[in-house]
Amino acid sequence: MTGKAMIELRNVSRQFGDITAVDNLSLRIEQGEICVFIGTSGCGKSTTLRLLNKLIDCSSGEVWVDGENVATLDSKLLRRRMGYAIQSTGLFPHWTVERNIAVVPQLLGWSKDKIDARVRELLELLSLPYATFANKFPSQLSGGQAQRVGVARALAADPDILLMDEPFGALDPITREALQNELLRIQSHIHKTIVFVTHDIDEALRLATHIVVMDKGRIVQHDTPENLLNHPANSFVENLLGQSERGLKRASLQRVEQFMSALSSELPEVSIAVGSSVRQALSLMLWHRVDALCVCDQDAKPLGILPIRAVLKP
Ligand SMILES: Nc1ncnc2c1ncn2[C@@H]1O[C@H](COP(=O)(O)OP(=O)(O)OP(=O)(O)O)[C@@H](O)[C@H]1O
Ligand SMILES: [Mg+2]
Repeated sequence: MTGKAMIELRNVSRQFGDITAVDNLSLRIEQGEICVFIGTSGCGKSTTLRLLNKLIDCSSGEVWVDGENVATLDSKLLRRRMGYAIQSTGLFPHWTVERNIAVVPQLLGWSKDKIDARVRELLELLSLPYATFANKFPSQLSGGQAQRVGVARALAADPDILLMDEPFGALDPITREALQNELLRIQSHIHKTIVFVTHDIDEALRLATHIVVMDKGRIVQHDTPENLLNHPANSFVENLLGQSERGLKRASLQRVEQFMSALSSELPEVSIAVGSSVRQALSLMLWHRVDALCVCDQDAKPLGILPIRAVLKP
């Protein structure tokens, strides 16, 4: 409790009809933290984020941002002071990358020269060369590139706070890791206060200065990654950590050929090289949404079939 509280929730609840999405939540996030929310689907993570930038209002309790009760603030003006990046990126499809990034600076009435300079600076920061990307449309970008543009847009007006709701959720594991590294690199320069929502405990452990584990609208544990790993508050947190660690550690050590079955007349469309780990195989299956892979040798000759049930067996 030494730094400056950039965000504070005081006994905040939010109901939707009979559902209590956020249940008497109190939390303090200090300037410069990366606070990561994690928890089961529907536990209230996105709702909490939306309460911070007043996309929705609290049913009871108070949200304070940078020393001000948001109930007293104009929601549009508040939102311009907070970057917001979401999984679907929310880019305008008929606008170029440059125009998409410039939205908030334009709303704020920045001069054209200042906006141009800012767009160039951000594209560079996110490893998207201006000459190549400024005039592209969102449909001409890969998922990872679009996500970078989404992050650039969230940063455009240099907000103190960045809200990120599963910003990398739709990406393949390799691009995802690259963007996580990029976010950490950028944060080491800009020192924003970042509130980040994820489903992925590895992502949480990697990015967070503090992790908030939520269940049914409540905080189960709010701690540093180290404390979470060393002192999980209860079996819910233990499960969240344990399953990831044990399952993934095991999957990283096992090779696909240990689990493949004989070839049949119908070959799966997606292939994986012999010698790959089961962890890589699972990532590929999730990414391509398939339940089997074709295991091939170095010359792309099919050797066997890897069904998902063979690797998920307890
Ligand atoms: N606008 C809304 N109207 C009615 N119910 C809502 C609304 N927004 C959220 N809810 C409900 O509130 C609860 C919390 O939803 P929320 O989106 O915050 O969950 P989440 O933790 O972000 O889940 P996920 O991981 O699936 O994104 C859910 O039961 C959801 O159905
Ligand atoms: Mg959500």
